[in-house]
Amino acid sequence: MRILVIGSGAREHAIALGLSKDPKVTEVHVAPGNAGIAGMATVYPEATAVSNPEAMLALAEQVRPDLVVIGPEIPLVAGVSDVLRAAGFKVFGPSKAAAQIEGSKAFAKDIMQAAGVRTAHAEQITPGADDAAIEAALDRFGPRFVVKDDGLAGGKGVVVTNDRAEARAHVDAVLAAGNPVLLESFLDGPEVSLFCLVDGETVVPLLPAQDHKRVRDNDEGPNTGGMGAYCPLPWLPEDGVQRIVDEVCIPVAKEMASRGNPYSGLLYAGLAWGEQGPAVVEFNCRFGDPETQAVLDMLNTPLGEVLLAVAEGRLAELPALDWKPGYALTVVLAAANYPETPRTGDVITGADHPQVRHAGTAFNEAGELISAGGRVLNVVGTGATLEQAREQAYAVLEQIHLDGGHYRSDIALPAVRGEIHI
Ligand code: GLY
Repeated sequence: MRILVIGSGAREHAIALGLSKDPKVTEVHVAPGNAGIAGMATVYPEATAVSNPEAMLALAEQVRPDLVVIGPEIPLVAGVSDVLRAAGFKVFGPSKAAAQIEGSKAFAKDIMQAAGVRTAHAEQITPGADDAAIEAALDRFGPRFVVKDDGLAGGKGVVVTNDRAEARAHVDAVLAAGNPVLLESFLDGPEVSLFCLVDGETVVPLLPAQDHKRVRDNDEGPNTGGMGAYCPLPWLPEDGVQRIVDEVCIPVAKEMASRGNPYSGLLYAGLAWGEQGPAVVEFNCRFGDPETQAVLDMLNTPLGEVLLAVAEGRLAELPALDWKPGYALTVVLAAANYPETPRTGDVITGADHPQVRHAGTAFNEAGELISAGGRVLNVVGTGATLEQAREQAYAVLEQIHLDGGHYRSDIALPAVRGEIHI
């Protein structure tokens, strides 16, 4: 089986690695890919227009893959999967209409309301709203303000703060960029990322994970795309995953199907587990980054077989997924000044290791590995315990040098210390 993966991050590196271990997968192609992916797959560095359906169709016609796996949300929301399917390609990834579950937070709220899924109360403010209307809306929220850019912002469009002036500043910044803003009530409780394979009304969960979104230890500093993650979650009740599937993912899948927009691909439920149980913080229409780097490391079932079953509408026939015992953890090495204005072009040394997943990396003219994005690379650690997985990942990270590079030292630490309770 020849597979084309679209994307260039550590998530796509993890997907490509998973696919390459599937005995039925003979070729892995990644567009555009990155410096690390170039070492294990055929890459197309010039194919950067991943959200241009015609450009991706032209590439697919050149590669002739048996399956296309779309990694990031932007091509999905732009309708790349629809154009590829219409041309006869098998695609892992939802249609443009179904990808609205991530592309429009207002759409996601509407689906959740119709499906009876627990989520935060939200109000939308649209560009052009006057000062009095914005202040009145802020009066209805707080003392903890959750202010979201109602568009695709790579996880960086959310500000959670007790400081009303900071909340107002983010409202103004998003509106000034021409996007609507969502104000949301704050959902308390530890966060869970549950990825589910969805094929119409069939829902198969992967291992539950937890992301660490703030840039610094102890959840300090601004939100990022994610600084590290681990799986599974030792603090989740035994029936936790099943409850999320039954209370959240199946109702949403059924609601999408009943609207004539059946979901096909990966549905990412981002949840907070509060006193009343799991409540949805957000949905994403694709694998999460960095959680995927940990989750896929634990999967024994051949990945190509799994993704093809979804693309062919055969998920219900797939045998139960087989997982390794123990835990996996991933830590992100970020560039200087990430997430504000990441510096690029710094030389990276010590990253030639099988546990490294590349994200923003490239080669310079001298052939040196350099940083080329905010999240530069991930290191994955595994072990019989979370503590062992942490030790393994951090031991590799300590060998890697990137000027100004930074990473969190506390990924999974609260879980290891038994500090997370629901
Ligand atoms: N882990 C956050 C995201 O993938 O959006």
